[in-house]
Amino acid sequence: MATHPPRVLSGMRSTGRLHLGHYHGVLKNWVKLQHEYECFFFAADWHALTTHYEDTAGIEENVWEMVIDWLAAGVNPGHARLFIQSKVPEHAELHLLLSMITPLGWLERVPTYKDQQERLKERDLATYGFLGYPLLQSADILIYRASMVPVGEDQVAHVEITREVARRFNHLYGREPDFAEKAEAAAKKMGKKNAKLYCELRKRYQEQGDHEALETARALLVDQQNITLADRERLFGYLEGGGRIVLPEPQALLTPASKMPGLDGQKMSKSYNNTIPLREDPQVVEQKLRTMPTDPARVRRTDPGTPERCPVWQLHQVYSSEEVRQWVQAGCTSAGIGCLDCKQPVIDGILAELAPIRERAEEYAGNRQLVRNIINEGSEAARAEARKTLEEVRQAMRLDYR
Ligand code: TRP
Ligand code: SF4
Repeated sequence: MATHPPRVLSGMRSTGRLHLGHYHGVLKNWVKLQHEYECFFFAADWHALTTHYEDTAGIEENVWEMVIDWLAAGVNPGHARLFIQSKVPEHAELHLLLSMITPLGWLERVPTYKDQQERLKERDLATYGFLGYPLLQSADILIYRASMVPVGEDQVAHVEITREVARRFNHLYGREPDFAEKAEAAAKKMGKKNAKLYCELRKRYQEQGDHEALETARALLVDQQNITLADRERLFGYLEGGGRIVLPEPQALLTPASKMPGLDGQKMSKSYNNTIPLREDPQVVEQKLRTMPTDPARVRRTDPGTPERCPVWQLHQVYSSEEVRQWVQAGCTSAGIGCLDCKQPVIDGILAELAPIRERAEEYAGNRQLVRNIINEGSEAARAEARKTLEEVRQAMRLDYR
């Protein structure tokens, strides 16, 4: 197979305007990755549809608002391809083909399936599309043959099922006819007993992902004295799928959990109502920070406090120097400073961080045509790559009628 430079792919469900949690948790990482790898980043509008199919009126606007915030945060179309999932319909064809080989149990066992149904009780998520959420994500990843997928902890299971689906696909369709024959013949040369053992171990690894079986089989091969080197290599290759790898298995690139707390000390999230949107008016940002809760023990200005019990302290971890943090520790525990004094460096830090982002967002928001052009170009480039993969997939599955 042709060697690609390492390729990174990631997507974000289109949920509208983004907040500081997205910035520290995802976007800063994308901005860094875009300089190190070939990056594809997309708005997962079909994934948004899996939970919001009843009201689709807001989907388009949510996509544009989100993309504007990506651009404002420094995700650069000169370095990364930015696109919209539904503008690359190849994702849907691959999703369909993969659905043929994906056991229902794999999807039912993905933890997010039941969790989300529990969490979003008011929606009816007993749909075909929602069950297929992780498989659509697999198609998103595999269609670009991405080697790395930056995601948070909650998405690791989706990358894992992607690896399993890829392995199964390669197992079913990646073998070249005479490669398999040669490998089978080589196995026989180990003698009846060893050949049988080899086949069993191989099956256990390929169908159940049993890594112990893989190790045992490898050891078995190492021990063989009377087979040729070529045969040994065939048997090693055959063990792990062998033959052609049409869809390479991706790795999750775990994004360290965002240290960005919300205004109440919990994780920043729209559903907790504790966010600072990237495009929030500076006066509102300041107001939100001035009124955010502090250590409840500091009822009066003269009451000493404990920074570890205060959400403002968590913000100092993100925005303040060691020196300022020492000033906070000393001033808080001795009631030497008031909470508003303490908040000021955080307010300054956040306003300084947001100012250039807001400015760029305003430019893009005022020039939607530019944003559309960026997305159209990105989608075309993505599509060209997706088509190549799909061609190989069709060929491997014998669906390339000529
Ligand atoms: N499921 C992801 C999320 O909720 C979004 C997503 C869709 C994605 N397709 C993807 C992420 C492919 C990485 C790769 O955040
Ligand atoms: Fe929190 Fe600072 Fe007030 Fe202490 S002084 S309670 S750390 S805001």
